[in-house]
Amino acid sequence: MTKPRGEFGSRLGFILAAAGSAVGLGNIWGFPTQAASNGGAAFVLVYLILAFLLAYPVLMAELLIGRHAHGNAVTALTRIASSPISKAIGASTGLMGIVVASLILSFYAIVAGWMLGFTVSYPLNAAGITGVGQWLTAFSAERNVALMVIFMGMTAGIVMAGVHNGIERWSTRLMPSLIVTLVLLALYVLTLDGAMTGLKVYLLPDFSKVLSGDLILAALGSAFFSLSLGVGTMLIYGSYLSDKEDLPSTGAQVALIDVGIAILAGFLIMPSMYVAAERGVEIFDASGALLSEDTLIFTVLPALFDTLGGIGILIATAFFFLMSVAALTSSISMLEVPVAFLVERFGWTRRRSALMAGTGIALISTIVIMNFDALFGLVIAVTTRFGQPLGGLLMCVYAGWIWQRNSLLGELRKSNPDAANTFFWRVWPLYVRVVCPVIIGVIFVRSVL
Ligand code: TRP
Repeated sequence: MTKPRGEFGSRLGFILAAAGSAVGLGNIWGFPTQAASNGGAAFVLVYLILAFLLAYPVLMAELLIGRHAHGNAVTALTRIASSPISKAIGASTGLMGIVVASLILSFYAIVAGWMLGFTVSYPLNAAGITGVGQWLTAFSAERNVALMVIFMGMTAGIVMAGVHNGIERWSTRLMPSLIVTLVLLALYVLTLDGAMTGLKVYLLPDFSKVLSGDLILAALGSAFFSLSLGVGTMLIYGSYLSDKEDLPSTGAQVALIDVGIAILAGFLIMPSMYVAAERGVEIFDASGALLSEDTLIFTVLPALFDTLGGIGILIATAFFFLMSVAALTSSISMLEVPVAFLVERFGWTRRRSALMAGTGIALISTIVIMNFDALFGLVIAVTTRFGQPLGGLLMCVYAGWIWQRNSLLGELRKSNPDAANTFFWRVWPLYVRVVCPVIIGVIFVRSVL
C-alpha cells in the first residue's frame, strides 16, 4: 500500500538539507589546496563559472526529474520514459545510482569515522585518558571498523527518523553550527603569524595556470563530487520538495552555498598551512606541491594544533567537529538513495530499510578496511571517476531527450506560470541536451583511458 511520502517542511529546510549533502569533506580538504596550487583566485573564478555552467544544469536535471515523479530514481526515470527500452535503461540508471551511492558511502564512512575519532581524542588526551586517545588516532583495522560502525549508526539513525523529522531536522541544526564553527576558526587562525602569507597564496590570481584543459576537467570532476551529482541523491531530495517551490532559484541557492563554503574553507585551510609552516611543520611534498587531502587533515593540521598550547585542544576539537558535521549531512543524503528505493519498491518500513541498507554498506566498508591498500583507492576511483560522470550523463539524456518537452515545461510551470519566458528555460534545455553530455562524455572518456 502506498503510504504518504515524506516531504520537506520548508524551503529553508530543503536548502539546508541539499546544501548539507553538497558541503562535505570535499569542500574542506580538497578545494582550498586545489585552488592554491592551481592559480589561486583565478582557479576560484573558473570553478565558480564551471559550477554554474555545467554542474548546476545537471543538479537541475536531477531536482526536476525527482520532483516531477515524487519517487526514487528507479521509479522516476522509468516514469518519464515512454518506450520499453528507454524505461529499462531508466530503471538500470536508477539502480546503478543506488549501487554507486552505496559504494561512495562505504569509503566516505571510513574517513568520516577518522574525523569522529580525532574529535574525541583531543578532549580525552587533555583529560589524561591518553591510551584511548592515541588508539583513536592511530591507523588500525580495529579502530577503522569501530569508528565506521559508529558513524554509520549515526547516519542510519537520522535517516530512520524520516525526511522531515530526521534529515531536515538534523540538517537545520548541523548546518548553522558548521558555518559558525568555520567562521570562528578562520577568524582565529587569521590572527596568527604567517596567516597572511597563506591568504596571498590562496588568492593571488595566476591566470596562466587555469587555462589548461586538464585542470578544467579536474575542476569539473570536483564540482560534480561536490554537488553530489550523478547517483540520484539530489533527485531523491528533489522528490521530497513541494510543487510550490521554484526549482531554478532553489537549486541556484544550493549551488551557491556549496561553492561559498568551499571558498570560505580556504580562508581557514590556507592560512592554517602557512601558520604551520612558520612553526616548522612541513607543508610541501617531495615534488614541492602543497600537501592536501588526508595528509593535510591528519598530519599537517594536528601538528599545527600541537603548537598552539592550551587553546590548541579547543581549536582541534572544533575543527574535527566541523569535519564530522560536514561528513554526516553528506552521508545521510547518500544513505537516503538506497533507503528510498527499499521503502518505495518493497514497501519496507523506513526503519527496516535504513537498518538493512546501513548494515549492508557497513559490511562493504569492513571488506574495504580489511583490504585497505587494494580496495580503498579503487572504490574511490571507480565511483567518482566512472560512476558519477556516467550517471550524470544519463540524467542529462533523460531530462533533455527522453522526457517530453511539454511535460518538462509543465513541471516548471507548477511554481512559475510564466516559466516559458524565463532565462532558465531559454538556456537550460540546450545545456542538458547538448553541452553537458558532450563535456561529461569527454571527461568520462579521458578518465577511463
Ligand atoms: N558532496 C559531498 C562532498 O563534497 C559528498 C557527497 C554527498 C556525494 N552525497 C554524494 C558525492 C553523492 C557523490 C554522490 O563531500
